[in-house]
This record gives sequence, structure tokens and C-alpha cells, in this order.
Amino acid sequence: MKPTEALLNEILDEVRPLIGKGKVADYIPALATVPANKLGIAVCYNDGEIIQAGDSEERFSIQSISKVLSLTLAMTLYKPEEIWKRVGKEPSGHAFNSLIQLELENGIPRNPFINAGALIVSDLLHSRLSAPQYRMLELVRDLSGDQHIVYDKVVATSEMQHSDRNASIAYLMRSFGNFENEVMPVLTNYFSYCALKMSCVDLARTFSYLANKGQPLGAKEPIISQTQSKQMNALLATCGLYDGAGEFAYRVGMPGKSGVGGGIIAVVPGEMTIAVWSPELDPSGNSLAGTAALELLADRIGRSIF
Ligand code: DON
Repeated sequence: MKPTEALLNEILDEVRPLIGKGKVADYIPALATVPANKLGIAVCYNDGEIIQAGDSEERFSIQSISKVLSLTLAMTLYKPEEIWKRVGKEPSGHAFNSLIQLELENGIPRNPFINAGALIVSDLLHSRLSAPQYRMLELVRDLSGDQHIVYDKVVATSEMQHSDRNASIAYLMRSFGNFENEVMPVLTNYFSYCALKMSCVDLARTFSYLANKGQPLGAKEPIISQTQSKQMNALLATCGLYDGAGEFAYRVGMPGKSGVGGGIIAVVPGEMTIAVWSPELDPSGNSLAGTAALELLADRIGRSIF
């Protein structure tokens, strides 16, 4: 069954009582100022039809959802073995910003969606592109069809001022020889990607290539191949929600990616892309009410990859 706007509104009403039970991210101080009661959802069908409810057009900080875009870009620039010799494809079982495994595993991050892995991907982009920030903005504007998407400089600067942990992760990888560029310029780019400001509608449109074998909405050419799209969805299903990936697979049953801004994208391959936003997070750093909304939607429309 196709979700209607009424169904989406009903789902938002059902999860709204969860607001107050999570915690808005405050380790990036600029994120802590976002009102906790924001709640939005958008579904984009592969034919471009959008169904939406709540604060679905309000832009927020996409944070780690940007890690899917940077990996997509890296996949278009590098041979698979050049990427996967530097970062793994396994769930980490640790927090997204943990350093523990990195020391034990010789500076090779478990997967491209924890911070360490995304910093490797940013390092790869830095090595091959003369203006990676510009290229990323161009990519996201093309994929979403919205030329007005920008980086939130306040959020990027706020994160740069509190970057000790990410800097430590990058320097540790560099000490193992797994970092090609100077750490600070790569961190600056990474924080900008994370500070992209997008709405649920923007996100659902942007990631529809993952529901459509690598083919973006309205584009003539696929951005990545059908095989790469399958690979990305597999990585999202196993690692996209960090140490909450198993719980998310159990409850929602779709490849997904979260961000500490409270956004989550989820993919139903062959059919639709969904984006939700609710700023309060669960202990794994994933949107609490957002996950609940996706769980209800998956159940009501009878969709899952399992
Ligand atoms: O590097 C960080 O910590 C943030 N810019 C992104 C982390 C994040 O979004 C984790 N996701 N739920």
C-alpha cells in the first residue's frame, strides 16, 4: 500500500509523545539550539512523487547522513580496492566516534559510516578533488534538484571548535600511515559536509538513486552502478545506524542512515526513499521518534527488505 498524507500525519501524531524521551545532541553546541519538538517525514517514490507531513520542508543539519554522499562521490573517483584497503565493511559494535577499535586494528576503521571511516573517505576526496567542498555542494544540489542548498557555517564552525575527538581519530589513523593529507583541512571539509542543511523532502529526493539502481531523479545517467547501489544499501543496512544497526534492522527492516541532527533516511529498493526528522536522539545517536516513525510506516505499508 502507498502511504497517504493522512497516514503520515497519523504516524507523526503517534510518535509525538516520544518527544522528551531522547536527548538533542549538544557536543556540537550549535545543534543544541534546535527546538526538540520538530517532527517531519517525506516519502519520495521512484517516479518523483512526494508525500510529506509535519516539518518536512524545514532544513536541518544532516550531519552523518552526508557520509553516504561522500562515499558515493568516492565510489565515482576510485577503484573499489583503493577504497576498501583503507576502510572496512563491518559493523563496529561501538559508538560512532569511538577510538577503541582503531588502535587495536592498526588505524583501519571498521566501516565508512563511523566517524573514522568517514574521515578516510573525506581524505580520499581531498586527494582527488581540487575543491571537494564545491564538488559536494554541486552533487547534492543536482541530486535534490534544489540549487539553494548550502552549508550551515555556524554549525561547521561550532563543530570545528569542538573537534578534539575527530582530530584525535584522524591523527591516530595518520600515525598508522592511513591518512594522506594534513588533518585540519580534511576535518574542515568533513565538518562542512556534515553541516549541509536539508529538509526531509530534499533528502528523500536526493537519496532516491539508492532505491532506483543508482539512477537519480530526473537524471539521464546513473550516478553509481546497480552493483554499487546494492553495495551501498548493504553497508547502510549493516552499519548505517552504528551500534543501533541491529535494532533498526529488527524494527524498521530497511537500509538506513542517521545523523546527530536527528534525521534518518531509509530506502525501499525498487520503490521509494523515506526521510524523517526529530532532533532528540537515543543512546546510539539515532533519532528516537524518527526510528519509531519509520517502524510504524514500515509496518503500516508492509515494506521491508527482509
Ligand atoms: O563528526 C561528528 O561527530 C558529527 N559531525 C557527525 C556524527 C553523526 O551525525 C553521528 N550520527 N548519528
